[in-house]
Amino acid sequence: MLRQSEHKTDAVEASTPVKATTLSGRPLKPIGFGTMGAVDVYALTLPGEQTVQLFTEVLRSGCNVIDTALIYGDGRAEAWLGRAIKAAGVKREDLFLCTKGGLFRKNGQFLTNGTEDALSQHCKDSLERLCTNYIDVYYIHRLDEHTDLAESLKALVNLQRKGLVRFIGLSEVTGEIIQKAVAILTRLGSKLNFIQNEYSLMSRDVEVDGTLQACAQHGISFVAYSPIGRGLFSSKDKAFFDTLPSSDIRKAVLPRYQTGQIENNVDRVKTLRSLAEKHECTTTQLALAWLLERGQQLNVQMIPIPGTTSVKHFNENMHAQGVFLTLQDRDLLSQAYPLNVFSGIRWPSGLISSELPAPAPTAQSEQVSSTSPVVSTLYMGNELLASLAPTVGMPATTDVAIPPPTVTLDPVNPGMHH
Ligand SMILES: NC(=O)c1ccc[n+]([C@@H]2O[C@H](COP(=O)([O-])OP(=O)(O)OC[C@H]3O[C@@H](n4cnc5c(N)ncnc54)[C@H](OP(=O)(O)O)[C@@H]3O)[C@@H](O)[C@H]2O)c1
Repeated sequence: MLRQSEHKTDAVEASTPVKATTLSGRPLKPIGFGTMGAVDVYALTLPGEQTVQLFTEVLRSGCNVIDTALIYGDGRAEAWLGRAIKAAGVKREDLFLCTKGGLFRKNGQFLTNGTEDALSQHCKDSLERLCTNYIDVYYIHRLDEHTDLAESLKALVNLQRKGLVRFIGLSEVTGEIIQKAVAILTRLGSKLNFIQNEYSLMSRDVEVDGTLQACAQHGISFVAYSPIGRGLFSSKDKAFFDTLPSSDIRKAVLPRYQTGQIENNVDRVKTLRSLAEKHECTTTQLALAWLLERGQQLNVQMIPIPGTTSVKHFNENMHAQGVFLTLQDRDLLSQAYPLNVFSGIRWPSGLISSELPAPAPTAQSEQVSSTSPVVSTLYMGNELLASLAPTVGMPATTDVAIPPPTVTLDPVNPGMHH
């Protein structure tokens, strides 16, 4: 049983009301669902039919903020979500469907392309796979360092004008980029509505790089990805991370889950565990409740989007909205988990490149260097891993076997190869 704190109102009263995006006047659910891990990146992905079943149950539960992307399973996550929407029998207008373009796999590499042509095509393909005629939030998944920011944003505004996209979003950006994007979109007669960055007790960069301040300033909603630290805050032990297969991104390249870092990181969860005992909830729920509380405190609509392959875990995560922190709990967690208390950097750099050649510099261009890249490197090959070794804290010669992409006929969507 969850116990709601008698001090719930302390936290709420401490801040002014958050400017919230709604779904035809009805509130969005405070916690959404991320489709990535069921299909891609982590080792224990589900086969197609089971993924469709999981997504169907998620949709039937009333969870309405659903996050996906072109790159998740190279379109499979979107296609299976499209099938689940039909199977669940939910009305399209009761869903808040969010997807992303501008980042994709090609010849085993992770590439960005932020041109108008590429983004329009990506959006059109997503609409087809999702079997819908509009997307609620369309994000540029990663800014393309060889495309002018204004061109990429103009592409999204054009999609919006055609009615294909309701809200505009950016993913993995800093406060500085958000301020630039707000100015450009204002000139174009539109608005930046959503930011999606990593945010959890382990990844608090957005509190200090201007991201959350910019969201509060401009009434931008913030979507927290990997909100339970890619499983760390679900109290998984060191043995779990040690025995992950090399096809799992955490084992393959993410510094925080490597031997030498994971020991400290797993140990740090003990403060969360003891507080979860007090609240009679799970550590996962408490990590999510902390994010919701941060949204209230910072005056930002905060939507964590945990991912899972399990209906049981999904239900547990949704119930986190019933866990309320006291001001003392909030302070305890904020002090126990300051920035950089976890070992290892969030991402090794150099994993994504632009599909486009570098343009000749011009005085007015507003190109952006890509910020911390976030991609699956599952199929990138040992050569790249070895070249990254000094950055990610892995031995220079690694025996991690990364298979090349296999092209198989998708059993769920026969027209699609992956
Ligand atoms: N914009 C971006 O660049 C970006 C990057 C990464 C992720 N995302 C989005 O964020 C979503 C979530 O991120 P994420 O999947 O990386 O990380 P996460 O939600 O922090 O963690 C997922 C992991 O936690 C486990 N888990 C979830 N709920 C659990 C529970 N109640 N009990 C025990 N274990 C639990 C899952 O395993 P089980 O399957 O066993 O439950 C999975 O291994 C993604 O699906 C995607 O939509 C966006």
